[in-house]
Amino acid sequence: MSTAKNIRNTIHDSAKMLIDAYCADNIDDARLEAELLYGYAAGIERVTVIANGLDNPKNKDLEQFELLLDRRLNHEPLAYILGHKEFYNIDLLIGPGALIPRPETETIVEIALKTIYEHPQFNQEVTIADVGTGSGAIAIAIGMHAPHATIFAIDKSNEALIWAKKNIDKHKLQKQITLLHGDLLQPLNTTIDIVIANLPYIPTDELQSLPNEIVKHEPDLAVNGGEDGLELYRHFSKQLPQHLSKKNNSVIVEVGAGQIIFVQEILLENMSTHENTQIQIHRDLRQVRRVLEIRNN
Ligand SMILES: C[S@@+](CC[C@H](N)C(=O)[O-])C[C@H]1O[C@@H](n2cnc3c(N)ncnc32)[C@H](O)[C@@H]1O
Repeated sequence: MSTAKNIRNTIHDSAKMLIDAYCADNIDDARLEAELLYGYAAGIERVTVIANGLDNPKNKDLEQFELLLDRRLNHEPLAYILGHKEFYNIDLLIGPGALIPRPETETIVEIALKTIYEHPQFNQEVTIADVGTGSGAIAIAIGMHAPHATIFAIDKSNEALIWAKKNIDKHKLQKQITLLHGDLLQPLNTTIDIVIANLPYIPTDELQSLPNEIVKHEPDLAVNGGEDGLELYRHFSKQLPQHLSKKNNSVIVEVGAGQIIFVQEILLENMSTHENTQIQIHRDLRQVRRVLEIRNN
């Protein structure tokens, strides 16, 4: 650490270190991370870190901050260090073993909620599956905004399910969300009206070119989509007919950039469609074609 004299200088120097270590792309992001880490170290809100900028750091806060900063400079993701991540305006507990929910995944929540609200059974009971639930992010966001929905959240990773359970407990959604362990839709023993999935979709060859935050710290099971990135969706598609409700069903999936047409072909191989089937492609906030929806109403 440099000869920083007050909190503001400490933050500034740390932000520069984060940029030099390729942990942040720009000074705004780097400052934000440094402020959050400092706040966590000192047990204060970020707004207080900023407000107290001209104070000298307490020794114990500085020591703690430097330990956290070292972890971050070692490319440990910020969310794993802080133990929290905000998703769809909801505070989620997060740590190694569960994928950190991404902002682009909020798109699938918005689409799923619209589909749930427009479902003919909305006022009675709609069954939802969140396949590959990870931290439980999608299931929890849906549970909080569609209290009538009955949700099954499935994952193959026991570690991820531990985080999902913590989040379900934190948000008191135990009655609404049932956690299931297993391969894709297989653990289900009831049919599902709306199946939602954000499955791993990065081609194996491309994994090594991803940031160290992902490659070294996030679970391979959460990102590795096999040779062309689509292996999980092929497997998922074959399981669909057995688990989808016979009518008024929808499948909503998140995919990687450029994959949507291929995933559409894969899903349509196994889904029965009719003249009213609607196929919609939705873009995320960066305008990437991110979510595919196949709706049979
Ligand atoms: C891309 S992450 C999505 C996590 C979370 N839904 C989100 O959006 O933040 C994919 C998830 O699928 C899980 N997964 C991978 N293969 C699976 C399988 N065969 N069956 C069930 N879940 C699987 C991973 O453990 C991981 O939690």
